[in-house]
Amino acid sequence: MFWTIFLLFNGLFIVVLFYSTRTRKKNEPPLDKGFIPWLGHALEFLKDSAKFLARMKEKHGDIFTVRVAGHYVTVLLDPNSFDAVLNDTVFLDFTNSRNQLIQKIFSLQLPSVKPAAERKWMERHFQGLSLSKLNSSINTHLQNLLLSDQKGCSPSEWRQDGLFSLCYSLLFRAGYLTMFERRDNAAAVYKEFRQFDNLLTKLARSSLKRGESETANSSRERLWELLSPNLLSGTSESNSWQQSYHHFLQEEGVDAEMQKRALLLQLWTTQCNAGPAAFWLLGFLLTHPEAMEAVKSEIRGLTLLDTSLQHPPINLLEAHSTPVLDSVLSETLRLTAAVMIRREVVQDKILCMANGKEYHLRRGDRVCLFPFLSPQMDPQIHQEPQLFKYDRFLDDNMTVKEKFYKDGKRIKYHTMPWGGGRNTCVGKEFAVTAIKQFVFLLLTQLDLEMCDPEAKLPPVNTSRYGFGMLQPDGDLQVRYRLRRTQHEM
Ligand code: HEM
Ligand SMILES: *[C@@H]1O[C@H](CO)[C@@H](O)[C@H](O)[C@H]1NC(C)=O
Ligand SMILES: *[C@@H]1O[C@H](CO)[C@@H](O)[C@H](O)[C@H]1NC(C)=O
Ligand SMILES: *[C@@H]1O[C@H](CO)[C@@H](O)[C@H](O)[C@H]1NC(C)=O
Ligand SMILES: *[C@@H]1O[C@H](CO)[C@@H](O)[C@H](O)[C@H]1NC(C)=O
Ligand SMILES: *[C@@H]1O[C@H](CO)[C@@H](O)[C@H](O)[C@H]1NC(C)=O
Repeated sequence: MFWTIFLLFNGLFIVVLFYSTRTRKKNEPPLDKGFIPWLGHALEFLKDSAKFLARMKEKHGDIFTVRVAGHYVTVLLDPNSFDAVLNDTVFLDFTNSRNQLIQKIFSLQLPSVKPAAERKWMERHFQGLSLSKLNSSINTHLQNLLLSDQKGCSPSEWRQDGLFSLCYSLLFRAGYLTMFERRDNAAAVYKEFRQFDNLLTKLARSSLKRGESETANSSRERLWELLSPNLLSGTSESNSWQQSYHHFLQEEGVDAEMQKRALLLQLWTTQCNAGPAAFWLLGFLLTHPEAMEAVKSEIRGLTLLDTSLQHPPINLLEAHSTPVLDSVLSETLRLTAAVMIRREVVQDKILCMANGKEYHLRRGDRVCLFPFLSPQMDPQIHQEPQLFKYDRFLDDNMTVKEKFYKDGKRIKYHTMPWGGGRNTCVGKEFAVTAIKQFVFLLLTQLDLEMCDPEAKLPPVNTSRYGFGMLQPDGDLQVRYRLRRTQHEM
Protein backbone atom coordinates (compact mmCIF):
# COMPACT_ATOMS: atom_id res chain seq x y z
CA MET A 1 0.00 0.00 0.00
CA PHE A 2 2.65 2.37 1.15
CA TRP A 3 4.92 1.61 -1.79
CA THR A 4 2.06 1.96 -4.21
CA ILE A 5 1.51 5.45 -2.93
CA PHE A 6 5.21 6.08 -3.03
CA LEU A 7 5.56 5.06 -6.67
CA LEU A 8 2.42 6.89 -7.68
CA PHE A 9 3.74 10.10 -6.26
CA ASN A 10 7.18 9.50 -7.64
CA GLY A 11 5.45 9.51 -11.01
CA LEU A 12 4.25 12.98 -10.25
CA PHE A 13 7.76 13.96 -9.26
CA ILE A 14 8.16 16.74 -11.82
CA VAL A 15 4.74 18.22 -11.21
CA VAL A 16 5.30 18.25 -7.49
CA LEU A 17 8.71 19.86 -7.88
CA PHE A 18 7.11 22.74 -9.70
CA TYR A 19 4.36 23.26 -7.19
CA SER A 20 6.10 22.50 -3.91
CA THR A 21 7.71 25.87 -3.78
CA ARG A 22 6.73 26.61 -0.20
CA THR A 23 9.33 28.78 1.46
CA ARG A 24 9.59 30.15 4.93
CA LYS A 25 7.99 33.53 5.39
CA LYS A 26 9.00 36.11 7.91
CA ASN A 27 7.56 35.22 11.36
CA GLU A 28 7.09 31.59 10.47
CA PRO A 29 8.89 28.78 12.33
CA PRO A 30 12.04 27.36 10.67
CA LEU A 31 10.98 25.18 7.73
CA ASP A 32 12.59 21.80 6.99
CA LYS A 33 11.12 20.10 3.95
CA GLY A 34 13.57 17.23 3.59
CA PHE A 35 14.92 16.16 0.20
CA ILE A 36 12.23 13.80 -1.00
CA PRO A 37 9.40 15.60 -2.78
CA TRP A 38 5.99 15.36 -1.12
CA LEU A 39 7.10 12.66 1.33
CA GLY A 40 9.60 14.96 2.96
CA HIS A 41 10.74 13.41 6.24
CA ALA A 42 7.97 10.79 6.37
CA LEU A 43 10.24 7.72 6.35
CA GLU A 44 12.46 8.90 9.17
CA PHE A 45 9.49 10.23 11.12
CA LEU A 46 7.59 6.94 10.99
CA LYS A 47 10.59 4.76 11.73
CA ASP A 48 11.63 6.48 14.93
CA SER A 49 9.82 9.75 15.66
CA ALA A 50 11.74 10.41 18.84
CA LYS A 51 15.13 10.17 17.14
CA PHE A 52 14.02 12.26 14.19
CA LEU A 53 12.43 15.02 16.28
CA ALA A 54 15.44 15.09 18.61
CA ARG A 55 17.62 15.70 15.55
CA MET A 56 15.32 18.50 14.36
CA LYS A 57 15.27 20.06 17.84
CA GLU A 58 19.04 20.07 17.84
CA LYS A 59 19.04 21.76 14.45
CA HIS A 60 16.18 24.26 14.78
CA GLY A 61 15.27 24.67 18.46
CA ASP A 62 11.94 24.44 20.24
CA ILE A 63 9.70 25.13 17.26
CA PHE A 64 10.00 24.14 13.60
CA THR A 65 7.91 22.98 10.66
CA VAL A 66 8.63 19.71 8.85
CA ARG A 67 7.08 18.19 5.77
CA VAL A 68 5.65 14.72 6.33
CA ALA A 69 3.84 12.94 3.50
CA GLY A 70 2.38 16.06 1.99
CA HIS A 71 1.50 17.71 5.28
CA TYR A 72 3.32 20.53 6.98
CA VAL A 73 3.61 19.79 10.66
CA THR A 74 4.74 22.45 13.12
CA VAL A 75 6.35 20.77 16.10
CA LEU A 76 6.37 22.66 19.40
CA LEU A 77 8.78 21.40 22.05
CA ASP A 78 8.71 24.13 24.71
CA PRO A 79 6.51 22.89 27.58
CA ASN A 80 5.97 26.42 28.87
CA SER A 81 4.30 27.29 25.57
CA PHE A 82 2.05 24.21 25.39
CA ASP A 83 -0.98 26.05 26.81
CA ALA A 84 -1.15 28.26 23.74
CA VAL A 85 -1.94 25.13 21.75
CA LEU A 86 -3.87 23.14 24.35
CA ASN A 87 -6.23 26.02 25.22
CA ASP A 88 -7.03 27.06 21.66
CA THR A 89 -10.41 25.79 20.46
CA VAL A 90 -10.98 28.40 17.76
CA PHE A 91 -7.96 28.32 15.48
CA LEU A 92 -7.00 24.72 16.21
CA ASP A 93 -9.14 21.63 15.90
CA PHE A 94 -8.64 17.98 16.69
CA THR A 95 -12.00 16.34 16.00
CA ASN A 96 -11.50 16.14 12.26
CA SER A 97 -8.18 14.33 12.30
CA ARG A 98 -9.26 12.19 15.26
CA ASN A 99 -12.30 11.02 13.31
CA GLN A 100 -10.13 10.16 10.32
CA LEU A 101 -7.80 8.15 12.51
CA ILE A 102 -10.69 6.28 14.13
CA GLN A 103 -12.06 5.50 10.69
CA LYS A 104 -8.71 4.15 9.54
CA ILE A 105 -7.95 2.04 12.59
CA PHE A 106 -11.34 0.91 13.78
CA SER A 107 -13.35 1.26 10.58
CA LEU A 108 -15.68 3.32 12.71
CA GLN A 109 -17.62 6.50 11.99
CA LEU A 110 -19.16 8.56 14.76
CA PRO A 111 -19.79 11.90 13.05
CA SER A 112 -22.88 12.72 15.11
CA VAL A 113 -21.16 12.26 18.46
CA LYS A 114 -20.17 15.58 19.97
CA PRO A 115 -16.74 15.35 21.60
CA ALA A 116 -17.81 17.45 24.58
CA ALA A 117 -20.79 15.20 25.28
CA GLU A 118 -18.64 12.10 24.98
CA ARG A 119 -16.06 13.53 27.34
CA LYS A 120 -18.76 14.33 29.89
CA TRP A 121 -20.16 10.83 29.67
CA MET A 122 -16.67 9.38 30.22
CA GLU A 123 -15.86 11.59 33.16
CA ARG A 124 -19.03 10.52 34.94
CA HIS A 125 -17.81 6.96 34.86
CA PHE A 126 -14.35 7.52 36.23
CA GLN A 127 -15.04 9.47 39.38
CA GLY A 128 -16.79 9.21 42.74
CA LEU A 129 -18.90 6.14 43.33
CA SER A 130 -18.23 4.70 39.88
CA LEU A 131 -14.51 4.97 40.48
CA SER A 132 -14.62 3.21 43.82
CA LYS A 133 -16.65 0.41 42.24
CA LEU A 134 -14.04 0.10 39.48
CA ASN A 135 -11.32 0.20 42.15
CA SER A 136 -12.62 -2.79 44.02
CA SER A 137 -13.78 -4.67 40.95
CA ILE A 138 -10.38 -4.71 39.28
CA ASN A 139 -8.77 -5.67 42.55
CA THR A 140 -10.98 -8.74 42.85
CA HIS A 141 -10.38 -9.71 39.23
CA LEU A 142 -6.61 -9.33 39.57
CA GLN A 143 -6.52 -11.60 42.62
CA ASN A 144 -8.78 -14.21 41.05
CA LEU A 145 -6.86 -14.31 37.80
CA LEU A 146 -3.51 -14.53 39.53
CA LEU A 147 -4.69 -17.55 41.51
CA SER A 148 -6.57 -19.26 38.69
CA ASP A 149 -3.58 -18.88 36.34
CA GLN A 150 -1.58 -20.94 38.86
CA LYS A 151 -4.07 -23.79 38.93
CA GLY A 152 -2.56 -27.06 37.81
CA CYS A 153 0.87 -26.14 39.10
CA SER A 154 2.14 -27.42 42.38
CA PRO A 155 2.53 -24.44 44.71
CA SER A 156 6.31 -24.45 44.91
CA GLU A 157 6.84 -24.95 41.20
CA TRP A 158 8.56 -22.14 39.28
CA ARG A 159 6.96 -21.00 36.07
CA GLN A 160 8.71 -19.10 33.32
CA ASP A 161 7.26 -16.38 31.11
CA GLY A 162 8.10 -13.09 29.45
CA LEU A 163 7.42 -10.24 31.86
CA PHE A 164 5.60 -8.28 29.16
CA SER A 165 3.16 -11.11 28.42
CA LEU A 166 2.70 -11.77 32.11
CA CYS A 167 1.81 -8.13 32.91
CA TYR A 168 -0.18 -7.34 29.78
CA SER A 169 -2.20 -10.53 29.92
CA LEU A 170 -3.13 -10.17 33.60
CA LEU A 171 -3.96 -6.47 33.56
CA PHE A 172 -5.77 -6.67 30.25
CA ARG A 173 -8.04 -9.49 31.34
CA ALA A 174 -8.70 -7.93 34.74
CA GLY A 175 -9.45 -4.56 33.12
CA TYR A 176 -11.66 -6.18 30.51
CA LEU A 177 -13.67 -8.06 33.12
CA THR A 178 -14.01 -4.81 35.07
CA MET A 179 -15.20 -2.66 32.18
CA PHE A 180 -17.07 -5.20 30.08
CA GLU A 181 -18.41 -7.51 32.75
CA ARG A 182 -18.28 -10.58 30.58
CA ARG A 183 -17.17 -13.73 32.27
CA ASP A 184 -16.13 -16.31 29.77
CA ASN A 185 -14.09 -14.89 26.91
CA ALA A 186 -11.38 -12.71 28.45
CA ALA A 187 -8.52 -14.95 27.28
CA ALA A 188 -9.85 -15.08 23.72
CA VAL A 189 -10.34 -11.31 23.61
CA TYR A 190 -6.80 -10.77 24.89
CA LYS A 191 -5.28 -13.07 22.28
CA GLU A 192 -7.17 -11.45 19.43
CA PHE A 193 -6.50 -7.95 20.73
CA ARG A 194 -2.74 -8.48 20.83
CA GLN A 195 -2.77 -9.44 17.19
CA PHE A 196 -4.81 -6.36 16.33
CA ASP A 197 -2.65 -4.10 18.51
CA ASN A 198 0.46 -5.25 16.64
CA LEU A 199 -1.00 -3.95 13.38
CA LEU A 200 -2.44 -0.79 14.87
CA THR A 201 0.38 1.61 14.03
CA LYS A 202 0.43 0.32 10.48
CA LEU A 203 -3.32 0.75 10.21
CA ALA A 204 -2.98 4.32 11.40
CA ARG A 205 -0.30 5.02 8.79
CA SER A 206 -1.95 3.05 5.99
CA SER A 207 1.25 1.07 5.59
CA LEU A 208 -0.16 -2.46 5.82
CA LYS A 209 1.09 -5.05 3.39
CA ARG A 210 -1.60 -7.04 1.61
CA GLY A 211 -1.50 -10.08 3.87
CA GLU A 212 -1.52 -7.89 6.95
CA SER A 213 -4.55 -6.00 5.73
CA GLU A 214 -6.54 -9.22 5.66
CA THR A 215 -5.33 -10.17 9.11
CA ALA A 216 -6.27 -6.76 10.44
CA ASN A 217 -9.74 -6.97 8.91
CA SER A 218 -10.52 -10.41 10.21
CA SER A 219 -9.03 -9.63 13.61
CA ARG A 220 -11.18 -6.53 13.84
CA GLU A 221 -14.29 -8.45 12.88
CA ARG A 222 -13.63 -11.19 15.40
CA LEU A 223 -13.19 -8.59 18.11
CA TRP A 224 -16.48 -6.91 17.19
CA GLU A 225 -18.18 -10.28 17.61
CA LEU A 226 -16.42 -11.12 20.86
CA LEU A 227 -17.34 -7.75 22.35
CA SER A 228 -20.93 -7.48 21.22
CA PRO A 229 -23.22 -7.96 24.20
CA ASN A 230 -24.70 -11.38 24.53
CA LEU A 231 -28.26 -10.39 25.32
CA LEU A 232 -29.36 -13.97 25.97
CA SER A 233 -26.88 -14.65 28.73
CA GLY A 234 -28.24 -11.75 30.75
CA THR A 235 -25.05 -11.44 32.75
CA SER A 236 -24.45 -7.74 32.33
CA GLU A 237 -25.99 -5.54 34.94
CA SER A 238 -28.45 -2.95 33.82
CA ASN A 239 -26.35 0.00 34.93
CA SER A 240 -23.03 -1.31 33.69
CA TRP A 241 -20.49 0.92 31.97
CA GLN A 242 -21.07 -0.89 28.72
CA GLN A 243 -24.85 -0.49 28.74
CA SER A 244 -24.50 3.12 29.67
CA TYR A 245 -22.24 3.54 26.65
CA HIS A 246 -24.87 1.98 24.39
CA HIS A 247 -27.49 4.35 25.75
CA PHE A 248 -25.19 7.28 25.19
CA LEU A 249 -24.49 6.28 21.57
CA GLN A 250 -28.17 5.69 20.94
CA GLU A 251 -29.05 9.14 22.19
CA GLU A 252 -26.40 10.59 19.91
CA GLY A 253 -28.06 8.87 16.97
CA VAL A 254 -25.44 6.19 16.25
CA ASP A 255 -26.74 3.10 14.41
CA ALA A 256 -26.50 -0.46 15.71
CA GLU A 257 -23.54 -1.48 13.53
CA MET A 258 -21.44 1.48 14.61
CA GLN A 259 -22.44 0.92 18.23
CA LYS A 260 -21.01 -2.57 17.94
CA ARG A 261 -17.78 -1.29 16.37
CA ALA A 262 -17.37 1.47 18.93
CA LEU A 263 -16.78 -1.11 21.65
CA LEU A 264 -13.44 -1.99 20.09
CA LEU A 265 -12.38 1.64 20.28
CA GLN A 266 -13.33 1.64 23.96
CA LEU A 267 -11.49 -1.62 24.54
CA TRP A 268 -8.38 -0.11 23.03
CA THR A 269 -8.47 3.21 24.92
CA THR A 270 -9.15 1.54 28.25
CA GLN A 271 -6.86 -1.51 27.98
CA CYS A 272 -3.83 -0.73 25.84
CA ASN A 273 -1.77 1.33 28.29
CA ALA A 274 -1.92 -0.12 31.79
CA GLY A 275 -0.35 -3.51 30.95
CA PRO A 276 2.72 -2.08 29.17
CA ALA A 277 3.13 0.50 31.97
CA ALA A 278 3.14 -2.26 34.60
CA PHE A 279 5.72 -4.16 32.53
CA TRP A 280 8.14 -1.23 32.44
CA LEU A 281 7.62 -0.52 36.12
CA LEU A 282 8.40 -4.08 37.23
CA GLY A 283 11.16 -4.31 34.63
CA PHE A 284 12.87 -1.23 36.05
CA LEU A 285 12.51 -2.61 39.59
CA LEU A 286 13.98 -5.98 38.63
CA THR A 287 16.96 -4.36 36.92
CA HIS A 288 17.51 -1.75 39.68
CA PRO A 289 17.91 -3.65 42.97
CA GLU A 290 18.10 -0.49 45.10
CA ALA A 291 14.74 0.65 43.72
CA MET A 292 13.22 -2.78 44.29
CA GLU A 293 14.46 -2.75 47.88
CA ALA A 294 13.01 0.73 48.49
CA VAL A 295 9.59 -0.31 47.17
CA LYS A 296 9.58 -3.58 49.07
CA SER A 297 10.52 -1.83 52.26
CA GLU A 298 7.65 0.62 51.77
CA ILE A 299 5.22 -2.26 51.23
CA ARG A 300 6.59 -4.11 54.26
CA GLY A 301 5.81 -0.99 56.25
CA LEU A 302 2.22 -1.08 55.06
CA THR A 303 1.67 -4.74 55.76
CA LEU A 304 3.19 -4.37 59.23
CA LEU A 305 0.62 -1.70 59.97
CA ASP A 306 -1.96 -4.33 59.27
CA THR A 307 -0.57 -7.63 60.48
CA SER A 308 -3.88 -9.45 60.34
CA LEU A 309 -3.83 -9.13 56.53
CA GLN A 310 -7.59 -9.49 56.64
CA HIS A 311 -8.00 -6.41 54.58
CA PRO A 312 -7.49 -6.73 50.89
CA PRO A 313 -4.56 -4.73 49.55
CA ILE A 314 -6.90 -2.16 48.08
CA ASN A 315 -7.68 -0.90 51.57
CA LEU A 316 -4.03 -0.75 52.48
CA LEU A 317 -3.26 1.28 49.38
CA GLU A 318 -6.27 3.53 49.94
CA ALA A 319 -5.52 4.15 53.58
CA HIS A 320 -1.79 4.83 53.33
CA SER A 321 0.33 6.92 51.06
CA THR A 322 3.10 5.23 49.08
CA PRO A 323 5.46 8.01 48.01
CA VAL A 324 8.20 5.63 46.84
CA LEU A 325 5.89 3.56 44.64
CA ASP A 326 4.30 6.78 43.35
CA SER A 327 7.72 8.15 42.42
CA VAL A 328 8.66 4.87 40.72
CA LEU A 329 5.44 5.05 38.68
CA SER A 330 6.03 8.68 37.68
CA GLU A 331 9.59 7.90 36.68
CA THR A 332 8.47 4.86 34.70
CA LEU A 333 5.87 6.88 32.81
CA ARG A 334 8.36 9.69 32.18
CA LEU A 335 10.60 7.20 30.37
CA THR A 336 7.99 5.15 28.53
CA ALA A 337 4.81 7.17 27.89
CA ALA A 338 5.00 8.82 24.49
CA VAL A 339 1.73 10.48 23.48
CA MET A 340 1.65 12.87 20.54
CA ILE A 341 -0.84 15.72 20.82
CA ARG A 342 -2.04 16.75 17.37
CA ARG A 343 -4.11 19.69 16.13
CA GLU A 344 -5.14 21.02 12.75
CA VAL A 345 -4.85 24.74 12.03
CA VAL A 346 -8.33 25.74 10.78
CA GLN A 347 -7.62 29.49 10.56
CA ASP A 348 -4.31 31.32 10.21
CA LYS A 349 -3.01 31.74 13.74
CA ILE A 350 -0.37 33.63 15.63
CA LEU A 351 1.26 31.40 18.21
CA CYS A 352 2.64 33.27 21.23
CA MET A 353 5.53 31.49 22.88
CA ALA A 354 6.33 31.80 26.58
CA ASN A 355 9.48 33.76 25.72
CA GLY A 356 7.41 36.42 23.94
CA LYS A 357 8.25 35.37 20.37
CA GLU A 358 5.37 35.11 17.95
CA TYR A 359 5.04 32.72 15.03
CA HIS A 360 2.54 32.57 12.19
CA LEU A 361 0.86 29.24 11.56
CA ARG A 362 -0.79 28.62 8.20
CA ARG A 363 -4.30 27.33 7.79
CA GLY A 364 -4.30 23.67 6.76
CA ASP A 365 -1.03 22.91 8.54
CA ARG A 366 -0.81 20.70 11.59
CA VAL A 367 0.57 21.34 15.03
CA CYS A 368 2.10 18.63 17.13
CA LEU A 369 3.32 18.48 20.74
CA PHE A 370 5.58 15.60 21.71
CA PRO A 371 6.03 15.80 25.49
CA PHE A 372 8.23 12.71 25.47
CA LEU A 373 11.12 14.79 24.07
CA SER A 374 10.41 17.80 26.20
CA PRO A 375 9.69 17.93 29.12
CA GLN A 376 10.11 14.19 29.75
CA MET A 377 13.55 13.60 28.19
CA ASP A 378 14.81 17.17 28.40
CA PRO A 379 18.24 17.21 30.10
CA GLN A 380 17.67 20.79 31.24
CA ILE A 381 14.64 19.66 33.25
CA HIS A 382 15.59 16.12 34.27
CA GLN A 383 19.27 15.48 34.80
CA GLU A 384 20.57 12.42 32.97
CA PRO A 385 17.14 11.87 31.44
CA GLN A 386 18.01 8.45 29.98
CA LEU A 387 18.53 6.96 33.44
CA PHE A 388 15.88 5.42 35.64
CA LYS A 389 16.15 7.09 39.06
CA TYR A 390 13.48 5.74 41.34
CA ASP A 391 13.54 8.76 43.66
CA ARG A 392 13.45 11.42 40.95
CA PHE A 393 9.94 12.42 41.99
CA LEU A 394 10.62 12.34 45.73
CA ASP A 395 11.40 15.35 47.91
CA ASP A 396 13.89 15.17 50.75
CA ASN A 397 11.04 14.80 53.19
CA MET A 398 9.51 11.86 51.29
CA THR A 399 6.71 13.75 49.63
CA VAL A 400 5.91 13.95 45.94
CA LYS A 401 8.19 16.36 44.17
CA GLU A 402 6.25 18.74 42.00
CA LYS A 403 8.63 21.59 41.32
CA PHE A 404 10.91 21.28 38.33
CA TYR A 405 12.88 24.04 36.66
CA LYS A 406 14.30 24.93 33.28
CA ASP A 407 16.72 27.85 32.99
CA GLY A 408 15.83 28.73 36.57
CA LYS A 409 12.14 29.06 35.73
CA ARG A 410 9.56 26.73 37.26
CA ILE A 411 7.85 24.76 34.53
CA LYS A 412 4.18 23.90 34.51
CA TYR A 413 4.41 20.53 32.79
CA HIS A 414 7.36 18.43 33.94
CA THR A 415 5.96 15.13 32.67
CA MET A 416 2.84 14.50 30.56
CA PRO A 417 2.09 10.77 30.31
CA TRP A 418 -1.65 11.47 30.47
CA GLY A 419 -1.75 14.02 27.68
CA GLY A 420 -3.00 17.53 28.37
CA GLY A 421 -5.83 20.01 28.04
CA ARG A 422 -9.21 18.65 27.06
CA ASN A 423 -7.74 15.32 25.97
CA THR A 424 -6.20 14.42 29.28
CA CYS A 425 -6.74 10.76 30.09
CA VAL A 426 -10.09 10.38 31.86
CA GLY A 427 -9.05 7.08 33.37
CA LYS A 428 -5.92 8.46 35.00
CA GLU A 429 -6.90 7.88 38.62
CA PHE A 430 -8.25 4.45 37.88
CA ALA A 431 -5.15 3.55 35.89
CA VAL A 432 -2.86 4.60 38.74
CA THR A 433 -4.90 2.54 41.19
CA ALA A 434 -4.93 -0.50 38.92
CA ILE A 435 -1.18 -0.41 38.31
CA LYS A 436 -0.40 0.07 41.99
CA GLN A 437 -2.69 -2.78 43.01
CA PHE A 438 -1.11 -4.98 40.38
CA VAL A 439 2.43 -4.25 41.53
CA PHE A 440 1.45 -4.68 45.17
CA LEU A 441 -0.18 -8.02 44.39
CA LEU A 442 2.76 -9.40 42.42
CA LEU A 443 5.35 -8.32 44.96
CA THR A 444 3.42 -9.67 47.95
CA GLN A 445 2.02 -12.88 46.45
CA LEU A 446 4.78 -14.02 44.12
CA ASP A 447 8.44 -14.82 44.23
CA LEU A 448 9.50 -13.08 41.05
CA GLU A 449 13.01 -12.94 39.58
CA MET A 450 14.80 -12.63 36.26
CA CYS A 451 15.88 -15.89 34.67
CA ASP A 452 19.22 -14.30 33.90
CA PRO A 453 20.28 -12.06 36.81
CA GLU A 454 22.49 -10.06 34.43
CA ALA A 455 19.70 -9.43 31.91
CA LYS A 456 18.90 -5.91 30.76
CA LEU A 457 15.55 -4.41 29.83
CA PRO A 458 14.76 -4.86 26.13
CA PRO A 459 14.89 -1.67 24.03
CA VAL A 460 11.67 0.10 23.06
CA ASN A 461 9.88 -0.66 19.82
CA THR A 462 10.55 2.61 18.02
CA SER A 463 7.57 2.33 15.72
CA ARG A 464 5.17 3.07 18.59
CA TYR A 465 6.21 6.61 19.45
CA GLY A 466 3.07 8.74 19.43
CA PHE A 467 0.66 5.93 20.34
CA GLY A 468 0.63 6.15 24.14
CA MET A 469 2.64 3.71 26.22
CA LEU A 470 5.69 2.32 24.48
CA GLN A 471 6.16 -1.41 24.15
CA PRO A 472 9.40 -3.39 24.29
CA ASP A 473 11.15 -4.84 21.29
CA GLY A 474 11.52 -8.33 22.74
CA ASP A 475 10.76 -9.37 26.30
CA LEU A 476 12.39 -9.94 29.68
CA GLN A 477 12.29 -13.57 30.78
CA VAL A 478 11.24 -14.04 34.40
CA ARG A 479 10.40 -16.97 36.63
CA TYR A 480 7.83 -16.85 39.39
CA ARG A 481 5.86 -18.94 41.85
CA LEU A 482 3.18 -18.32 44.42
CA ARG A 483 4.61 -17.42 47.77
CA ARG A 484 3.56 -19.65 50.63
CA THR A 485 3.45 -17.03 53.32
CA GLN A 486 3.06 -13.44 52.40
CA HIS A 487 5.21 -11.95 55.08
CA GLU A 488 8.69 -12.97 54.06
CA MET A 489 9.26 -10.26 51.47
C1 HEM B 1 -0.65 3.98 32.19
C2 HEM B 1 -1.88 3.99 31.78
C3 HEM B 1 -2.49 5.04 30.88
C4 HEM B 1 -1.91 6.07 30.18
C5 HEM B 1 -0.43 6.43 30.12
C6 HEM B 1 -2.97 6.76 29.50
C7 HEM B 1 -2.80 7.86 28.67
C8 HEM B 1 -3.80 8.48 27.96
C9 HEM B 1 -3.60 9.57 27.04
C10 HEM B 1 -2.26 10.21 26.72
C11 HEM B 1 -4.81 9.91 26.53
C12 HEM B 1 -5.10 11.01 25.51
C13 HEM B 1 -5.05 10.40 24.15
C14 HEM B 1 -5.04 11.42 23.06
O1 HEM B 1 -5.21 12.60 23.30
O2 HEM B 1 -4.84 11.01 21.91
C15 HEM B 1 -5.77 9.01 27.13
C16 HEM B 1 -7.12 9.03 26.86
C17 HEM B 1 -8.03 8.21 27.47
N1 HEM B 1 -7.78 7.28 28.46
FE1 HEM B 1 -5.99 6.80 29.20
N2 HEM B 1 -4.16 6.15 29.79
C18 HEM B 1 -3.91 5.10 30.63
C19 HEM B 1 -4.82 4.21 31.15
C20 HEM B 1 -6.18 4.33 31.01
C21 HEM B 1 -7.15 3.47 31.64
C22 HEM B 1 -6.82 2.29 32.56
C23 HEM B 1 -8.37 3.92 31.24
C24 HEM B 1 -9.73 3.40 31.59
C25 HEM B 1 -10.04 2.24 32.08
C26 HEM B 1 -8.17 5.03 30.37
C27 HEM B 1 -9.17 5.72 29.74
C28 HEM B 1 -8.98 6.70 28.80
C29 HEM B 1 -10.04 7.27 27.99
C30 HEM B 1 -11.53 6.86 28.06
C31 HEM B 1 -9.45 8.23 27.15
C32 HEM B 1 -10.14 9.07 26.09
C33 HEM B 1 -10.36 10.46 26.59
C34 HEM B 1 -10.93 11.35 25.52
O3 HEM B 1 -11.07 10.91 24.37
O4 HEM B 1 -11.23 12.49 25.83
N3 HEM B 1 -6.82 5.27 30.26
N4 HEM B 1 -5.13 8.15 28.00
C1 LIG C 1 -4.82 27.77 29.62
O1 LIG C 1 -5.85 27.20 30.46
C2 LIG C 1 -5.39 26.87 31.77
C3 LIG C 1 -6.50 26.18 32.51
O2 LIG C 1 -7.73 26.32 31.91
C4 LIG C 1 -4.94 28.16 32.47
O3 LIG C 1 -4.44 27.84 33.75
C5 LIG C 1 -3.85 28.83 31.65
O4 LIG C 1 -3.50 30.07 32.23
C6 LIG C 1 -4.29 29.06 30.22
N1 LIG C 1 -3.12 29.51 29.48
C7 LIG C 1 -3.16 30.29 28.43
C8 LIG C 1 -1.86 30.68 27.80
O5 LIG C 1 -4.20 30.72 27.96
C1 LIG D 1 -9.32 4.12 44.48
O1 LIG D 1 -8.14 3.55 45.02
C2 LIG D 1 -7.07 4.45 45.28
C3 LIG D 1 -5.88 3.69 45.80
O2 LIG D 1 -6.04 2.33 45.75
C4 LIG D 1 -7.48 5.53 46.25
O3 LIG D 1 -6.43 6.46 46.42
C5 LIG D 1 -8.72 6.23 45.70
O4 LIG D 1 -9.18 7.16 46.66
C6 LIG D 1 -9.81 5.22 45.40
N1 LIG D 1 -10.93 5.94 44.84
C7 LIG D 1 -12.17 5.79 45.25
C8 LIG D 1 -13.20 6.69 44.65
O5 LIG D 1 -12.48 4.97 46.07
C1 LIG E 1 6.88 -3.16 16.88
O1 LIG E 1 5.57 -2.62 16.85
C2 LIG E 1 4.87 -2.83 15.65
C3 LIG E 1 3.56 -2.12 15.75
O2 LIG E 1 2.88 -2.44 16.91
C4 LIG E 1 4.72 -4.32 15.38
O3 LIG E 1 4.06 -4.54 14.17
C5 LIG E 1 6.07 -4.99 15.38
O4 LIG E 1 5.91 -6.38 15.27
C6 LIG E 1 6.82 -4.67 16.66
N1 LIG E 1 8.16 -5.20 16.57
C7 LIG E 1 8.62 -6.06 17.45
C8 LIG E 1 9.99 -6.53 17.22
O5 LIG E 1 7.96 -6.45 18.41
C1 LIG F 1 -10.25 -4.43 4.79
O1 LIG F 1 -11.37 -3.59 5.10
C2 LIG F 1 -11.38 -2.35 4.43
C3 LIG F 1 -12.59 -1.56 4.89
O2 LIG F 1 -13.03 -1.93 6.12
C4 LIG F 1 -11.41 -2.57 2.92
O3 LIG F 1 -11.34 -1.33 2.28
C5 LIG F 1 -10.23 -3.43 2.52
O4 LIG F 1 -10.31 -3.71 1.15
C6 LIG F 1 -10.21 -4.72 3.30
N1 LIG F 1 -9.00 -5.44 2.96
C7 LIG F 1 -9.00 -6.76 2.71
C8 LIG F 1 -7.69 -7.35 2.34
O5 LIG F 1 -9.99 -7.43 2.78
C1 LIG G 1 9.13 19.07 51.72
O1 LIG G 1 10.30 19.65 51.16
C2 LIG G 1 10.06 20.59 50.14
C3 LIG G 1 11.39 21.05 49.59
O2 LIG G 1 12.41 20.15 49.80
C4 LIG G 1 9.23 21.74 50.69
O3 LIG G 1 8.93 22.64 49.64
C5 LIG G 1 7.96 21.23 51.31
O4 LIG G 1 7.25 22.28 51.91
C6 LIG G 1 8.25 20.16 52.34
N1 LIG G 1 6.99 19.58 52.80
C7 LIG G 1 6.77 19.29 54.09
C8 LIG G 1 5.44 18.68 54.37
O5 LIG G 1 7.58 19.49 54.93
